[in-house]
Amino acid sequence: MFVSPSLKKNQSFINCIREKPIFLLVSLAIIFFSSCSDQKSPKKLRIGFSQCQSGDAWRKKMMDEMNRELSFHNNIQFIFKDAEANTQKQIQQINELVKQGIDLLIVSPNEAQPLTPVIENVYTSGIPVVLIDRGINSTKYTAFVGASNFEVGQNAGRYTISLLKGKGDILEVMGLSDATPFIDRHKGFVDVIANNPGIRLLKTIQDHAVNYESDLENTLVTNQNISLIFAQTDYIALTVYRICKKTSTDKKIKIIGVDGLPIDSLGMGMVASKMLAATVLYPTGGQEAIVTALKILDHQPYSKENTLATTIIDSSNVRIMQLQNDKVTEQQADIDKRQKKIEEQIIISKNQTNIILGISITLALALIFGGVLFYYLQENKKINKKLEQQKEEISGQRNQLVELMQKVKDANDARVNFFTNISHELRTPLTLIMAPLEDAMASPKLHFAVKNNLEFIRRNTMRLLRLINQLMDFRKMEEGKMKFSASENNITSFVNDITSAFTETAKKKHISFNVTSKVKDLQLWFDTTMLDKVLFNLLSNAFKFTADHGNINVTIDTTADGKTAIIKVADDGVGMSEEDAAHAFEMFYQGHSSTFKGTGLGLSLSKQLIGLHHGDITLTSEKGKGTCFEINLPIGKSHLQAQDILKEKPAPSNIYEDEKIYITDIEKVNLQHDSTTAVQKENSILIIEDNDDLRAFLKERLDSHYELHEAATGESGASLAFDIVPDLIISDIVLPGQNGLQLTEILKHDLRTSHIPVILLTAKGSIEEQIEGIKSQADAFIVKPFNVAYLEETIKTVLKNRAVLREHYTSELPAETRSNSSSKIDRKFINEFTAVVENNIANEHFSVDEIGRQIGISRVQLYRKVKALLGYNVNDYILTIRLQKAKYLLLNEELNIAEIAFKVGFASQAYFSTVFKSKFGVTPKAFKEGKTSHPK
Ligand code: FRU
Repeated sequence: MFVSPSLKKNQSFINCIREKPIFLLVSLAIIFFSSCSDQKSPKKLRIGFSQCQSGDAWRKKMMDEMNRELSFHNNIQFIFKDAEANTQKQIQQINELVKQGIDLLIVSPNEAQPLTPVIENVYTSGIPVVLIDRGINSTKYTAFVGASNFEVGQNAGRYTISLLKGKGDILEVMGLSDATPFIDRHKGFVDVIANNPGIRLLKTIQDHAVNYESDLENTLVTNQNISLIFAQTDYIALTVYRICKKTSTDKKIKIIGVDGLPIDSLGMGMVASKMLAATVLYPTGGQEAIVTALKILDHQPYSKENTLATTIIDSSNVRIMQLQNDKVTEQQADIDKRQKKIEEQIIISKNQTNIILGISITLALALIFGGVLFYYLQENKKINKKLEQQKEEISGQRNQLVELMQKVKDANDARVNFFTNISHELRTPLTLIMAPLEDAMASPKLHFAVKNNLEFIRRNTMRLLRLINQLMDFRKMEEGKMKFSASENNITSFVNDITSAFTETAKKKHISFNVTSKVKDLQLWFDTTMLDKVLFNLLSNAFKFTADHGNINVTIDTTADGKTAIIKVADDGVGMSEEDAAHAFEMFYQGHSSTFKGTGLGLSLSKQLIGLHHGDITLTSEKGKGTCFEINLPIGKSHLQAQDILKEKPAPSNIYEDEKIYITDIEKVNLQHDSTTAVQKENSILIIEDNDDLRAFLKERLDSHYELHEAATGESGASLAFDIVPDLIISDIVLPGQNGLQLTEILKHDLRTSHIPVILLTAKGSIEEQIEGIKSQADAFIVKPFNVAYLEETIKTVLKNRAVLREHYTSELPAETRSNSSSKIDRKFINEFTAVVENNIANEHFSVDEIGRQIGISRVQLYRKVKALLGYNVNDYILTIRLQKAKYLLLNEELNIAEIAFKVGFASQAYFSTVFKSKFGVTPKAFKEGKTSHPK
């Protein structure tokens, strides 16, 4: 469909408004205010008025007329300048007006001559010029408004003739000689009386002349026949009358004035009081000048010459004239009043318009805001509806989640219940195993090997029982079914009873084990079964993580206020890392370091059991320094509920029956060797394993074929390895203190032990652990639980590989030099010696002294030992090893002869070739190329 661009524009505008209501608001506001600003009044026209003077009544009347007319025209800005009868000032003011910027100039020039060029300039610059009352000596003006002064003079002349009946001497007093009215009045007057020879104009006196008044006085005195004086203005007429009066000629001399001013002291008033014979009406033309100016500005037709009517006012018409004038004045006053009223109305109307405008704006804005508000309300409704939908969806999802969680919980409960039931089920057969086992072990005729095996079975059965008990306690705790039954007991003897069960273990491990009570016979309310479990757990941990010859201290004390009992179990064993210590009481937390590993049940359970006592258990531990557990229990029973208190005290003998398993787990089993089965053992193995049972088990299985050494910690294992230099090491990765990986790394970096193959035992078999193992240069990994046959095969393979390697280097040695010595020291020496030589084979400066220093024996001892054990001179031996290595490299590596010579410690290729040929009868090059059969 075709859509016109304007339609598209409109559509996008509508869309914009729909999407952004604020846009609508702003748009409407702009339209509204711009329409308001359109109502602003148009630019005002400027009319400048240059008045020659303004102080006299005639010019005031002119000004009144102008103002009255201007009041009907609001669009005029009227700028008035008074030259105060000063021609230069008027010139300056006209220029100022032009500069100011005027649209039209009204001017009443003070003097014609000097002002003519100025006014001509204004006119030619394009500004219309309206002359009023007085003219210039040029026609370069737009319009003239005023009466004809020539006619004024003629009127006065005619009246003179008629008054004097054509006979008599007369005088004329003239105004400013360079102002056109006075020149023209004179001309008109003379024009009339010249035709009447009976009338004699004796003199024309200038009223601006310095001695004007005295001149007039003298003239009157000296010319007694003077019967009339023509005064060119009413003001001049007043002065003339005064002088006549002075000279007492006022009775016989008639005076004619000009202007006809409607005031008592002048013009009409003087005629009415017979001071003047007549006055010629000279209209001011103020109103007409403004009307003409507006026509010009409005580009309406106008006349260039606007001559106003003039007439004689004498005693015959002065009354009517005065009355008419009064009437006009009255009407004008009325007009002024009405005009004022109109102006007031205009102001009121303007104010009302403003109020209406304000109300309209408010209304419009209210409408706009209302619209916007409505829009947002609608939008809000939509959003709320959406939110409501979302809420419903979320609540649906939540319900689903709750359902799902319930299902998960049910499934979990089912699993845990199953687990608990299985644990229960396991307990019975385990107990059934224990009973006949104990019986069988009690038999005095038992062969020691059988007894050992039975002991082994018993200990592991107990371990299983302990784990199952803990699991069941944990379940009870979780379900809130753990029954708390406190009774009052002597805590010191209670602790003593428990600790006494560990004294045997302490003795065997050479651990200094002390129990101290700082308070005597402290009575405490506690659940004996629970506290027993907690203390057994803490003590078995302490014994587990404390090395032989360590210290374990148990102390009983109270706080200073005597309100709390404190039981501390402190050891100087392996300690925990900060992280392990922080999480030790968390359920299932097994620790990150090898030093702290457990099921994650014991301590968590202990914490909960102590919690049931309203007590607390805390620990402080430092890695390598030891651990201290502190139990706080409230003294007294005020904190206990009635149902927490046991009615009857349990019989002491029943208390620990189950928990004996804690101790037996720690005790060492002394497996005895059957000396009759001893055979000649070629290789020695060092077993490093902290689990006594596993260590004993391995020892038993490997004992028949290998000379065995054992260690329970990484540190003791390392020192034993340096000491005995075994042929192979089997080590657990998880060891108290230094772990298996760290141990391997140390051994592999020590010359004395670097050649010993290491097999690591790991419980996890994780790829990360294996990578760590490879980094530490372990030779093999066995994942627990392992098959013994597999372990034995691995041991054989690793040892065979080592032998093959050694064979490779020593195959050239005469048979008698091969060590078949079973002496540990000798084997250690040979191992060390060959290792030093092999490690330095590329060093051409490698010397006998260096070997001695590295092995830690003197030069002479070294010579003797090597000769005795290998039948070789040390240097010959080193050379043989070098050449053997060279052969191996020639066959197996992509290296040139020079590089091989360098690798086996020869400084020059030539010397290497010579020695090689003398030894094998063939040059290295020929040997490499296989041109001859390989030397053996
Ligand atoms: C007033 C006046 C009048 C006279 C006119 C001539 O200033 O002197 O008396 O008629 O000016 O311009």
